[in-house]
Amino acid sequence: MKKVLLTGIRASGDIHLGNYLGAMRPALADQNLYRSFLFIADLHGLTTTPPAEDLRQNIRKVAAAWLACGLNPDESIIWRQSHVPEVLELAHVLTCVTSFGLMERAHSFKDARAKNSSVKSGLVFYPILMAADILLYEADLVPVGKDQAQHLEMTRDMATFFNETYGALLKLPDAIIRDEIAIVPGIDGRKMSKSYNNGIEIFAEPDALKKQVMSIVTDSKSLQDPKNPDEVIVYQIYKLIAPEEERKEMFDRLSRGGFGYGDAKKMLLSLILEKFDTMRKQYLYWMSHTSELEDRLEAGAAKARPIAQKMMDRIKVQVGL
Ligand code: ADP
Ligand code: TRP
Repeated sequence: MKKVLLTGIRASGDIHLGNYLGAMRPALADQNLYRSFLFIADLHGLTTTPPAEDLRQNIRKVAAAWLACGLNPDESIIWRQSHVPEVLELAHVLTCVTSFGLMERAHSFKDARAKNSSVKSGLVFYPILMAADILLYEADLVPVGKDQAQHLEMTRDMATFFNETYGALLKLPDAIIRDEIAIVPGIDGRKMSKSYNNGIEIFAEPDALKKQVMSIVTDSKSLQDPKNPDEVIVYQIYKLIAPEEERKEMFDRLSRGGFGYGDAKKMLLSLILEKFDTMRKQYLYWMSHTSELEDRLEAGAAKARPIAQKMMDRIKVQVGL
């Protein structure tokens, strides 16, 4: 029996290099080795209450990105989270076995609280819905960026609370987090995130992409100065996608001096344009064939839902519903 691999991308904006390297590429790398469940977390996208048309568009963007990056619907199941509503039933069951204290310890909650005193409950319970996503499909492996490590720990905690309360049923998942690309820096040096507007959006038009790459922050060293590549954000991003020889070339040139940040940015831009060229064309295809896209998602939901229903039936028997 193949292991189950599952991951979701929140429908909250344009897909960036961090999403691709942290979650999508590792999830798609070995599709044939696993039973893969790859979804669009539209219910998580709702936690920031975007205008309805924005949410609809963001859902399409994530779906188009999955397909453009190589998701094969014959091998992996792709669906929108909200099309399998059983996930909300499980989320409620998990809410009942999980202490509120655990929610208050979530980094995502603490960050939101620090910025805004009136945090919406959907955000507080965000990790519970995510745990339900994972536990409903009995996932063994969950590829994510490091920012999600705590949510994976919490998922294991919630499964344990359930199993201790009602008897062993829920499977404890393992995160797949690759250390070298755990947190991809954004153009301002913070974690690249749709929420910070600091992304390199891999499917953006070349002009827009150029603008993003050219605005990566740098210090004030002159072209002639030798630079420490590990402190250069352009290089930190470049090394994640460049072939070894090209990576070394940029490393050496920066270290030697006589190679400016503008040169480094040009190298990064041309690598991104080349690397994502075919994927960008695919992405644009899916974004302009939305009914075909919707059909794919419907077909995926039709495969995912019976699996979820079966599991939810077992959970209901176990808790007495
Ligand atoms: P965002 O923060 O941009 O809204 P999501 O929360 O939708 O991204 O994340 C989707 C997936 O992409 C998650 O697995 C997350 O860990 C991963 N991810 C997001 N940003 C990064 C990053 N900067 N580096 C590595 N992985 C990331
Ligand atoms: N919470 C994740 C994020 O913000 C997205 C997500 C939702 C997810 N459900 C999931 C990731 C289940 C992995 C597994 O990035």
